[in-house]
Amino acid sequence: MANVKDKETTKVNIKIEGIPFQVEAGLTILEAAKKCGFEIPSLCAFNHGECSKASCRVCLVEATGARGLVAACVYPVAEGMEITISSPKAVAARRVSVELLLSNHNRNCQECDKNGKCELLHVAKITGAQEGRYEGEQTPVTVDELTPTIKRDTSKCVLCGRCVERCKNAHGIGVLGFENRGFKTIVGPAENRSFINSPCIMCGQCINVCPTGALMEASEIDKVDMAMAQGKYVVVQTAPAVRAALGEEFGMKIGTPVTGKMVAALRRLGYKKVFDTNFGADLTIMEEATELLNRIKTGGVLPMITSCSPGWVNFAEYYYPDQLSHLSTCKSPHEMFGAILKNYYAAKIGVDPKDMFVVSIMPCSCKKFEKNRPEMEDNGYRDVDAVLTTRELGRVIRRAGIMFDRLPDEDFDNDIVHDYSGAGVIFGVTGGVMEAALRTAYFVLTGKEREGIAFKEVRGFENIREAEFELAGKKIKVAVTSGMRGAKVLLDQIREGKSPYTFIEIMGCPGGCINGGGQPYVREVFLPNEDDDIMDTYMQKRANALYSEDERQVVRQSHNNVQIQALYKEFLGEPNSHLAHELLHTHYNPNRPRFD
Ligand code: SF4
Ligand code: SF4
Ligand code: SF4
Ligand code: FES
Repeated sequence: MANVKDKETTKVNIKIEGIPFQVEAGLTILEAAKKCGFEIPSLCAFNHGECSKASCRVCLVEATGARGLVAACVYPVAEGMEITISSPKAVAARRVSVELLLSNHNRNCQECDKNGKCELLHVAKITGAQEGRYEGEQTPVTVDELTPTIKRDTSKCVLCGRCVERCKNAHGIGVLGFENRGFKTIVGPAENRSFINSPCIMCGQCINVCPTGALMEASEIDKVDMAMAQGKYVVVQTAPAVRAALGEEFGMKIGTPVTGKMVAALRRLGYKKVFDTNFGADLTIMEEATELLNRIKTGGVLPMITSCSPGWVNFAEYYYPDQLSHLSTCKSPHEMFGAILKNYYAAKIGVDPKDMFVVSIMPCSCKKFEKNRPEMEDNGYRDVDAVLTTRELGRVIRRAGIMFDRLPDEDFDNDIVHDYSGAGVIFGVTGGVMEAALRTAYFVLTGKEREGIAFKEVRGFENIREAEFELAGKKIKVAVTSGMRGAKVLLDQIREGKSPYTFIEIMGCPGGCINGGGQPYVREVFLPNEDDDIMDTYMQKRANALYSEDERQVVRQSHNNVQIQALYKEFLGEPNSHLAHELLHTHYNPNRPRFD
């Protein structure tokens, strides 16, 4: 008898397709079948319960003890149960379920960015569903293209509810919900408003779980094409988390670091210079660590909270406008880097900043929103002109016919804004900004590097992590969280005057940028070579790619980046100088319009 190992000890004996198995009690039929190596088609079920509970009817099977067909995603296994996936009744029912979904779906697949990763097409294929078998009433369509971050097209929505659950699970804010009834049912912000007129923080987590093209990032590929066609001096910078996931777009295993191939691809795409946002991350640390130490020394507002995640900044402005003085005034790394490129580097290479076009490749769809903020402009130049997500970069590389896996490893452009430290690399994972800042704060306060360099106490994926450090004889307590559930706990503590912390890192997306709203979709059905528990391990694998790059770096602290030192000496003066404040710092808006 096959014995499927599991953490729990309580087991039940079942049969699937006549084969006996022993599985953990309490699993759904869908989960048990997966563990036993069977694929039951499913659409609304996703990653441990992110579904609207048996809404799609694509997973119907027969099971003894049940009356009629059951939805495998919600029906639990029981002792002695015999499950039949292949009965003619179940096969026909699953096919009809998919055909009904297709009958109310705008099937313009050739124009759809989800093509190639579309779960509806996948279940259509494995159920044998055909188009056009059922024609009937169509749901009125809403296409929301008003935000710079997300596009919502209800003509492609299968009402699976995954986005509704993800928004609640990640942030506890429930921006999305079901509206209307029957054929008029749609999913969206309250009253079918645009995202821009809702309390949405633009994190893009809902995009990541949507099985179809109903939720997509608002693409800026055309904008970059236009800048290239106009002969602009187009330079590109890439955030650390991109290199930890881009390979997935080309069938590589999750966690494969592809820094060199990514640089080679960008060069072949025609960018004049290929830079690393990590230079900006090192700059951010110099500014942020200095700001923290100044606040500690001068009795400034504490705890200070990191500010490089625009989803988190949106959350703070909307939900805690009375606590904005706790946020560091530092711009995020790619915005700092954009400001330096336009206001310093352009002059150095003899390019008029108005002819320079800065593209940021980001794991985060919210960076598209951030770059449009009025504060992200200096001397009349936008810091960053366009943001492409990791997924969009994958699309552009495929479009160009570049064989990504055959590319040589190349290095970022060797220029005056080229070097980066390991501290910059780990920005991409939750806890990374805190760790990078502590490495530098430790040096500034003690005059020496910390033995062992890393502050591993702040690593991990638990929702709220805390640690205590002694810096120059002074004890400081720090906390790290990602996703707005934890942020709410920490902000409520501050509001009540009970926060024990000096420094807090908050990132908008659970797990940090490695799990950002612009990262490659993680779907078991499209990843046949991965371990079968990939939904539990993909974040750790991406994080490991960044931690290993940090360990390979000769320089692992931002203050030891010699080009950063030169930038201060030659241009900025010192961290938190007047010029640094002008170019590298920002302010927040406590008066955002309210939509609740
Ligand atoms: S969501 Fe899927 S089925 Fe619908 S248009 Fe896009 S690729 Fe085609
Ligand atoms: S972008 Fe984020 S906050 Fe907005 S609806 Fe989606 S998950 Fe919720
Ligand atoms: S928008 Fe996408 S995730 Fe949300 S209910 Fe529709 S298909 Fe499902
Ligand atoms: S996956 Fe079971 S009903 Fe949708």
